[in-house]
Order: sequence, then structure tokens, then C-alpha cells
Amino acid sequence: MQITVTGAAGYIGSHACLKLLDDGHEVHGLDNFSRSFERTVQALQRAGGGRFHFTHVELNDQRATTAALKLHAPEIVLHFAAFAVVPESVQFPLLYWHNNVGATVSLLNAMDAVDCGKLIFSSTCATYGEPAPEHIPIGEDCPQRPTHAYGESKLACEHMMQAWVQSHALAERDRGVVFLRYFNVAGGDHLDRIGEDHDPETHLVPICLRAATGRHAPLIVHGNDYPTPDGTCIRDYVHVEDLVQAHIEAIKVIPRRDTLAMNVGTGVGASVIEVLRACSLAAGREVPFRMGARRNGDPPRLVSHPEKIFRLTNWRPARSSLEDIARSAWRWFAKEK
Ligand SMILES: NC(=O)c1ccc[n+]([C@@H]2O[C@H](COP(=O)([O-])OP(=O)(O)OC[C@H]3O[C@@H](n4cnc5c(N)ncnc54)[C@H](O)[C@@H]3O)[C@@H](O)[C@H]2O)c1
Repeated sequence: MQITVTGAAGYIGSHACLKLLDDGHEVHGLDNFSRSFERTVQALQRAGGGRFHFTHVELNDQRATTAALKLHAPEIVLHFAAFAVVPESVQFPLLYWHNNVGATVSLLNAMDAVDCGKLIFSSTCATYGEPAPEHIPIGEDCPQRPTHAYGESKLACEHMMQAWVQSHALAERDRGVVFLRYFNVAGGDHLDRIGEDHDPETHLVPICLRAATGRHAPLIVHGNDYPTPDGTCIRDYVHVEDLVQAHIEAIKVIPRRDTLAMNVGTGVGASVIEVLRACSLAAGREVPFRMGARRNGDPPRLVSHPEKIFRLTNWRPARSSLEDIARSAWRWFAKEK
């Protein structure tokens, strides 16, 4: 299959490209390197055996994005490109509306221009905001009330895509979108070809691993007085390779002239302290940390209710134990950093 991947140089997009290449697909990656590095594209080119094509493009540039899609007319697009740092979105909300919503308008127009109507969209559990206790674990019917511009921008994209598929339904054109609402993604490639590589880093697992080296600041645990067994926040961690597999399964259930939302989480939560311990074990050394104050807008427990994706697809998490996540993340980190 000919598949276009936006955000191909980013953390999840690059792991998706690798899996698609390993499965024998022809992959066209798009990225502007605003949050990623050219070395990741080089790793994909090494892995791709001539089946990985790359175009450096700003998705907000409608003309360039259309030209890029015309190069390798895709049968399907996986749309990962976005900004995804919550505190930054609070500080610079317009940046998020421009980059996440504006670029998606441009992408959908470009898809229309090449008559491609199949899309898997990277959405997020942040669209649920801070669910009431009765909605945890979180199902897809949990009210979507984001509490920051990042979550709002992703929810706006979902609404826009719903309108997009419906408008084309009227015109008898075949459009369909799957929204995958990810929980916390972590871990790296099983062959250590790529890993999680952000600068600055905001995700817990790589922050723990950096701290373990002693070359970076100790981890700050934001609050240990939550109503959880060890007092620290609980999140649902899904291995990046399991997440990518959810995309492969989602491709098989893209609806016709409709959208389909599925959470991608394991249904099992882990606390900050449990993640820290798993990272210590993987790295073979202590993760230095200190306790800090709670952050605004950090709910105590965010865990998916994965019943829908289990029911509609064959997806089951296979690598999402904390041990697998921390080990794979550490192997790549120790090799590259
Ligand atoms: N990492 C997680 O835990 C998580 C959780 C929920 C949802 N998501 C979503 O998954 C997607 C991928 O996340 P990630 O962690 O890989 O992020 P990332 O920052 O590593 O990757 C995003 C990529 O998109 C590119 N990009 C951004 N804006 C662009 C634009 N206008 N034009 C072209 N390229 C652009 C960046 O350069 C980067 O390579 C995002 O949409 C994010 O919202 C991630």
C-alpha cells in the first residue's frame, strides 16, 4: 500500500514508518523538523530499502502540501504532525490553533486535491480534560471537555474531520477517519533503530532515563499527596510499538463516510513512582528525584477503558508492561545519548 505519514520524523510517526516499512509498504514521510531531527529520517531511509520517501514540508503551506501528496498519491494518510506540549499550549494558544488546526485544514484540502479520503488521526485522551471519577476508566463516551489549547486543538480537528466526511457523503465521495485517542506513549523500537528523541523532553520515561545518567537534572515528581496508593499520579502507558499496531488495525476498520473514535490505552494504570522504579531497573542505576508541588490540571488517575478497540479490532497490547517500555527506551537511549 502507498501510505503518507505526517510528522514522520517525530517520535510516534517515525516508529509508524518503521513498522509500515517492515511490513513491506511504500511510505512517504512529511515533516518540517520543527520538533524533530533529520537523523531520524536517515535511520528510516536505512531501514526502508528504497521504499521510504521523504519530503520536507510545512503542512500549513497548502500548495506545498498538495504538491507533496501528488508526488506519491496516497491510499491512506496517517496524520501525526502536531505540537503536543501542554504547558506551551497554555502559554501560546494561537500557536496550537495555527499549527494543529490550521495545518490539518491544509492537509484535508490537499487530500481532496489528490482524492484520498482515508485518514487515521492522532487524537489524545487530553480531549477528555479532567473526567469526573464516574468516567474513569475512560470510555469513548466520556464527555470531551479539554482544559487547554492542546486538547482543544485536537478536539477541533475531530469536529472538522466529522464535517469533512459528512460533506463528502453528500457528494457521494468516499471519506472515512479513525480518531485514535492515545493515552501515554512510551518505549522504543525493538531493534533499537530509533527511540524517543525530543528537545526539550517533557515525557516521564525519557526524563527518568536522562536523570539516571547523572548528566541531566533529577526528576521532579509533581505531587505525592494524590488519592492514589503511593500518592503520585496514575497514567495509562502504552508501548509505542503497540500504539503503531493499533494504527495497522485501525486501517482495517476505517468507516465509509463516517468517523470512528477509539481509545488506545491498556486499561492498566501505573504511578509516577512505579515508572521511576521500572526505569531504575532498566538503567541499572537509581533515578535521582525530588518531590515537587502538584501541577495545575493534573488529574490523579487517567486510565483508558479499552473495551471498544478490543471489540472492533484484533488489537491487544503485547509490549506495554512497564518493564518492556523502560527496557526498550533505555537500550536506544544508552546507544544514542
Ligand atoms: N507522545 C504521546 O504520548 C502522545 C499522546 C497523545 C497524543 N499524541 C499525538 O501523537 C502525535 C505524535 O506525537 P509525538 O510524541 O510523536 O510528537 P513529536 O513532536 O515527536 O512529532 C510530531 C512531528 O510533527 C512535526 N510537525 C509538527 N508540526 C508540523 C507542521 N506544521 N508541518 C510539518 N511537520 C510538523 C514535528 O516536526 C515532529 O516531527 C501528535 O499529534 C500528538 O498530539 C502523542
